[in-house]
Amino acid sequence: MPFLPCDITPKAPPIKIQGIKTKVIPLIAKSIQWDGQGCWIEPFLGSAAVALNIAPQRALLADTNEHLIRLYKEIQNGSINGKSVRNYLEKEGKTLIENGESHYYYIRDRFNDHANSFDFLFLSRSCFNGMMRFNKKGRFNVPFCRKPERFRPALVTKITNQVEWAKKIITGKDWKFVSQDWRSTISCAQPNDIIYCDPPYVGRHTDYYNGFTDNESDELAKALNKTKASFALSNWLENKYRRNDYIDRWFSDYPQRTMSHFYHVGPQEHLRNEMIEIVVLSKKAAAIPTEHEELKKPLVKRAELG
Ligand SMILES: C[S@@+](CC[C@H](N)C(=O)[O-])C[C@H]1O[C@@H](n2cnc3c(N)ncnc32)[C@H](O)[C@@H]1O
Repeated sequence: MPFLPCDITPKAPPIKIQGIKTKVIPLIAKSIQWDGQGCWIEPFLGSAAVALNIAPQRALLADTNEHLIRLYKEIQNGSINGKSVRNYLEKEGKTLIENGESHYYYIRDRFNDHANSFDFLFLSRSCFNGMMRFNKKGRFNVPFCRKPERFRPALVTKITNQVEWAKKIITGKDWKFVSQDWRSTISCAQPNDIIYCDPPYVGRHTDYYNGFTDNESDELAKALNKTKASFALSNWLENKYRRNDYIDRWFSDYPQRTMSHFYHVGPQEHLRNEMIEIVVLSKKAAAIPTEHEELKKPLVKRAELG
């Protein structure tokens, strides 16, 4: 029986990051054809949402953000677990209520001086909008979410359960977590493997871990064109105003699957913006779409693109 495509109701990982693909996982899982025999390779792991939900037997999971990799290595080797995360968050959450935002900045300084996975989780779950941003010196610089009561019992339980879920998925599998650049990761791929790529969107975030230039995107497209492995690439395709010409330039001959989703820029209905997400597939990786999955019409008419 084929491993992918399949239907997945996604679960959220313990860590937050901009561009997290939790909502796009159903599209990814039903678009890819893969027998699960080789290795699942993710050069841009981020929160690990995709790998954890797909749950392949063998995986190479990499990112240049060493903090993400440390967290998952420590969940894997058991040096952090649900119980220790609960104890830590209950203790630091109580001090956050007592001392207010100064405690957030105390933890942020402590993390920037001596990085560790507990403080990393604390910051990820109590910073402004769950952002992951580092300055040029590699120091985490996202401000506080301004909710001193952030770590209420329900949230602590939720994070504890997410850590335990991640541990359960990783246990018994051959997963390797590595902190390295995408070029080294892609160069390991063999013909039976599948590379799932979710690079930072060009021009969106420029920080220590997320600076991705036009040149680098082009280099990635060339590497995917050349690889003997199967691949799937996530990106944005278009919104009401713009279309991502990177996809048209490099991947117009490849199978593509799309879905629209709404993201909020404010509390009111009219501030909901539609964004089309795309998954580009190598021919070998493209599952046959079912008759219900018609391809989404472009939001921007071709003639308007100039
Ligand atoms: C859009 S995020 C991936 C999100 C992930 N798919 C998820 O669902 O959470 C992009 C990731 O690429 C990583 N990254 C940026 N430049 C990189 C590079 N040169 N090599 C490897 N990873 C890189 C960032 O640290 C970030 O975690």
